[in-house]
Amino acid sequence: MTNQYTPDKHQVAQSFAHAAQQYDDVAILQRQTADELLDRLSLVKIQPNRILDLGAGTGRNLSLLAAKYPKAELIALDIAPAMLKQAQHRFQSDAGLKRWLPTHQQPAYMAGDAEALPLADNSVDMVYANLSLQWCDPTKCFAEIQRVLRPGGLLSFTSLGPDTLNELRQAWAAVDDYPHVNIFYDPHDIGEAMMNSRLAEPVLDVDRLTLTYETAIALMKDLKELGAHNVNEGRRRGLTGKQAFEKVINAYEPFRKDGLLPASYEVIYGHAWCAEETQKQEKDGTVKIPVSQIARRTAS
Ligand SMILES: C[S@@+](CC[C@H](N)C(=O)[O-])C[C@H]1O[C@@H](n2cnc3c(N)ncnc32)[C@H](O)[C@@H]1O
Repeated sequence: MTNQYTPDKHQVAQSFAHAAQQYDDVAILQRQTADELLDRLSLVKIQPNRILDLGAGTGRNLSLLAAKYPKAELIALDIAPAMLKQAQHRFQSDAGLKRWLPTHQQPAYMAGDAEALPLADNSVDMVYANLSLQWCDPTKCFAEIQRVLRPGGLLSFTSLGPDTLNELRQAWAAVDDYPHVNIFYDPHDIGEAMMNSRLAEPVLDVDRLTLTYETAIALMKDLKELGAHNVNEGRRRGLTGKQAFEKVINAYEPFRKDGLLPASYEVIYGHAWCAEETQKQEKDGTVKIPVSQIARRTAS
């Protein structure tokens, strides 16, 4: 893979735990991509019995998934337990009075890592992951998703590509050589990891979105409140000096357009299927094909 990096897991969990309270106030991009992902699901004929919201965060998408698939059991999984606590409150308050109905189903909340899912093989019908997989090693998380999906199950996700926050990255490059902005995998690498994990018919497309800010400080504050500030290993530890901040602010200014500073996002939309039973590989690498499905050769 061309863009290897190691997100510090502990740091990811900590960052998002700290962000849990104020995340919803600043998650503009996240809401937009979540809604687009849900819209895209309307085009897919699937009636999932169990849905995994992977990296569920504050759970904003749980009630939307529940409304779209009222019969499905939901699992909200996140590496940051504080996020799940918020999700639990939010699901209850989104339900309003409906939460008293006997038919009202609570999601199951699970703390866990997308790279080592605490779920059984072939146990979910759909994995919905909005802007969470960019914090993971694609090889590991797609292998895990493939493992837990039932044959015929669907993965639908958004992630971020390497052009994300390129203005901020360039501005920091004028200050020092440390990676101050998260490094994201290239769509080609993501596609390759999906293929290697034996997810079937993977489809990826990229959308470019720009948020605008009055100041570079406002952007950096938003990233911090989202829990999305730099978590790459090799990042500069300790305090970043006042002088360095002044330098980065100045280096961001040339990007100003129509009075505002742009922050670019390369959003990757992806989906793939879990191969039907006949093609799903066992742990030892073998593929079991039921005798009934082996076509007889007839002499021509
Ligand atoms: C940007 S938030 C998105 C939250 C939610 N999906 C949404 O649409 O608002 C990313 C979430 O992914 C979670 N996350 C990051 N790395 C993870 C991992 N390895 N396993 C599970 N969750 C992870 C974070 O804790 C955070 O809640």
